[in-house]
Amino acid sequence: MEGREILRVEGIVKKFGDFVALNGVNLSIFSDGITSIIGPNGAGKTTLINVITGRLKPDKGKVFFMGMDITGMSPHKIVKLGIARTFQIINLFTSLTVYQNVLIASLSRGKNANPDVDSILSKLHLEKYRDLEVYKLPHGIQRIVEIAVALATKPKLLFLDEPTAGLNVNEKEEVISVIKSLGSEIPIVLVEHDMDVVFNISKRIIVMNRGEVLAEGSPNDIAEDKRVREIYLGE
Ligand SMILES: Nc1ncnc2c1ncn2[C@@H]1O[C@H](COP(=O)(O)OP(=O)(O)OP(=O)(O)O)[C@@H](O)[C@H]1O
Ligand SMILES: [Mg+2]
Repeated sequence: MEGREILRVEGIVKKFGDFVALNGVNLSIFSDGITSIIGPNGAGKTTLINVITGRLKPDKGKVFFMGMDITGMSPHKIVKLGIARTFQIINLFTSLTVYQNVLIASLSRGKNANPDVDSILSKLHLEKYRDLEVYKLPHGIQRIVEIAVALATKPKLLFLDEPTAGLNVNEKEEVISVIKSLGSEIPIVLVEHDMDVVFNISKRIIVMNRGEVLAEGSPNDIAEDKRVREIYLGE
């Protein structure tokens, strides 16, 4: 069964000078489970997330979140509406503690926020790192702290841009298991290059290439898609 459509992207075009990074992207994200966005380097995955989350304004097209047109809204406003994200490059206050990082994010949600920081830390098994400065933590734990920071804004939809980038095998497993269990509570859009992880964890997969959506569907649909196999397997 397919969930409710929570986000819809219509005809998004984004240019950098003459270079067309997104060339008319249409897609929907549904409220159940994990959707992965895959595609070669430079396909436009991060640019698309930047457009959806308000860091970049599209040249054309619209973004609808739960039916509301959010195109061109500020990142802050979009966070308040319920879209959170993490970054391909770790984006934390490294000289502050884990607790302080998550608290700041929860306060930024606004005066009605209930700073439930400890419950987020325990959900992600971060209690033992609570009062340590982030720079002292292994890279894999920092990635999980980033997810905690994102959750502190009480999102209804969470984007994770390459949350396993730069991790060793064990750290990666740990981060993926956190994402997998979160995926049953909140819709997640995951950008990930490891195809084993993607096919294992995703309910739906969207394949991007050269600024366009090349294919979308269940892991089975994607595994059998001829054009996807050409890109990934050189067939
Ligand atoms: N601010 C920018 N100015 C100019 N070009 C940009 C900018 N941001 C992205 N690009 C270009 O747009 C294209 C898409 O980049 P994007 O970062 O979205 O790719 P990606 O799919 O996330 O790739 P990766 O898997 O390497 O993270 C790339 O060719 C990139 O060089
Ligand atoms: Mg990227």
